[in-house]
Amino acid sequence: MGYKVAVVGATGNVGREMLGILAERAFPADEVIALASRQSQGVEVSYGDKTLKCRALEHQDFSGIDICLMSAGSSVAKEWAPRIAAAGAVVIDNSSFWRYDADVPLIVPEVNADAVAGFRKKGIIANPNCSTAQLVVALKPLHDRATIRRVVVATYQSVSGAGKEAMDELFSQTKAVFTMDEPEIKKFPKRIAFNLIPHIDVFMEDGFTKEEWKMVAETKKILDPKIKVVATCVRVPVFIGHSEAVNVEFENPITAEEACEILRNAPGCLVIDKREAGGYVTPYECVGEDATYISRIREDPTVENGLALWVVSDNLRKGAALNAIQIAECLINRNLIEAKQKAA
Ligand SMILES: NC(=O)c1ccc[n+]([C@@H]2O[C@H](COP(=O)([O-])OP(=O)(O)OC[C@H]3O[C@@H](n4cnc5c(N)ncnc54)[C@H](OP(=O)(O)O)[C@@H]3O)[C@@H](O)[C@H]2O)c1
Repeated sequence: MGYKVAVVGATGNVGREMLGILAERAFPADEVIALASRQSQGVEVSYGDKTLKCRALEHQDFSGIDICLMSAGSSVAKEWAPRIAAAGAVVIDNSSFWRYDADVPLIVPEVNADAVAGFRKKGIIANPNCSTAQLVVALKPLHDRATIRRVVVATYQSVSGAGKEAMDELFSQTKAVFTMDEPEIKKFPKRIAFNLIPHIDVFMEDGFTKEEWKMVAETKKILDPKIKVVATCVRVPVFIGHSEAVNVEFENPITAEEACEILRNAPGCLVIDKREAGGYVTPYECVGEDATYISRIREDPTVENGLALWVVSDNLRKGAALNAIQIAECLINRNLIEAKQKAA
């Protein structure tokens, strides 16, 4: 007997990807329920070769649900995650709302799967920010070998990271540029088509943005609180796929060749690094893929033990939907949850 799974935010970028991945991986679900806001009641979404009709979140009874995958933003997560957890479902939330709560594990299964057992405190597990997820997948095996001291990262984040309306905005602005119309700016603070914007989420008092702060706080929580991180997060006119230029300083020596070998054997990582034209991965190529791709592995001659890397992944998959489903699989594989129907 399988699990009863609810997907909250099923009409969104991440929710649709979740439904696709549940079907693709033959997740042991007896029933999958698609939920969204009231305005999407009756909207059809694909689940493998089936079609599900969305229901309104507020009308759902969660008492029979085992796992709730949420991707409907922070305010929905704030209000609904505790209610759904109280009804007995394990909530795996994609928003940033629960990530920094000491009683909520923040999980990337390749990095800190053991921490998942902490879900019992609140019945909630948090999924990290998309840029953090791919970063820590690449850093973890290097940290295990040579102990990371400091990371300097610049991100090149696709518009899908800001939701479906943001994708529409890049599309309509691009079209407007070609038809000589004035591109309309709605969701982003400046024009995104044929441009880039060094600003994601709100500004904080110290001048960093919240997106940059998230990368620091989340890397520390998931990987190691001793690692120093500084980030510059940039939105780029790419539909799907986040890229990162990463400089890493280690306590111990590590060569580019060693790093390459370690990453080739690391879970979730795929090294494509030919040191020739086209011998690296770009975001366009990682769309629909599960791996975190690592290219351009070089020794950084400006520090004692340093490496420079290029890290690319599909932000809707490893950065969100795939990671959430891997967390659910982790709960099942470790016998941390049992289907309610089976238990009854
Ligand atoms: N995109 C990424 O790369 C990424 C990565 C990591 C985390 N996240 C997080 O995942 C969440 C969703 O992101 P997204 O990109 O999928 O956004 P999106 O495309 O804008 O979709 C938002 C979803 O939330 C639903 N929703 C909104 N208000 C709701 C309400 N009051 N009750 C029920 N459902 C409601 C929407 O339903 P309607 O269609 O009915 O409005 C839609 O299904 C956000 O918290 C985001 O920060 C995204």
